[in-house]
Amino acid sequence: MNNKIIAPSLLASDFANLQRDIEMVNQSDADWFHLDIMDGVFVPNISFGMPVVKAIAKHAKKPLDAHLMIVDPDRYIKTFADLGVDHLSVHYEACPHLHRTLQAIKTEGMLAGVAITPHTSVRLLEDTIQDIDIVIVMSVNPGFGGQSFIENTYNKVSDLKNLIIQKKSKALIEIDGGVNAGNAKKLVEKGADALVAGSFVFKSDNPTETIKNLKAEIA
Ligand code: DX5
Ligand code: ZN
Repeated sequence: MNNKIIAPSLLASDFANLQRDIEMVNQSDADWFHLDIMDGVFVPNISFGMPVVKAIAKHAKKPLDAHLMIVDPDRYIKTFADLGVDHLSVHYEACPHLHRTLQAIKTEGMLAGVAITPHTSVRLLEDTIQDIDIVIVMSVNPGFGGQSFIENTYNKVSDLKNLIIQKKSKALIEIDGGVNAGNAKKLVEKGADALVAGSFVFKSDNPTETIKNLKAEIA
């Protein structure tokens, strides 16, 4: 896949001006909306839930890429599909029956994603990689925006890319956490297909320009 993807994370947007920030992403060079759902149990933070996803879906004109940082995500697969989510990613560490969860997501017509935390080896995806549409490699510990990028991510991306090729999987590699202009190009060179960017986009002076420059950087 040549067209590399930028997915701004709305977690870093201004929730009091959510519609404005959604329109900014609609008009920008960005490809997806990244939605971080946190339950205060799997991660030590609570972000937003279904009513907010519903409001976002009403205005967003690009695919909704939802990242569930919640325990027992199987309970909500249908709910997120009904809300209009296009990609649903669950955490490897939160799914004792990951294979079944992936099938359930696909049955609801969504792309099935698996997120792995910094301590989870990509080798653990050996037996599911052919069933996965997207792997989110966390480059920070999940739970908060604005953290520093963990350098070991580069090795994980290379290893994952090799695994994907070896197993003839079509999975996309998405990097999440601390992405900025300083690491984007190298991540893509190592094999990343999609980059999530929260703070780097929304805390910048001109988010539209920041997205444009980031996109140009990895083209
Ligand atoms: C962290 C979230 C990320 C976060 C990224 O738990 O999964 O998507 O919003 O934010 P930045 O780009 O600020 O690290
Ligand atoms: Zn995320």
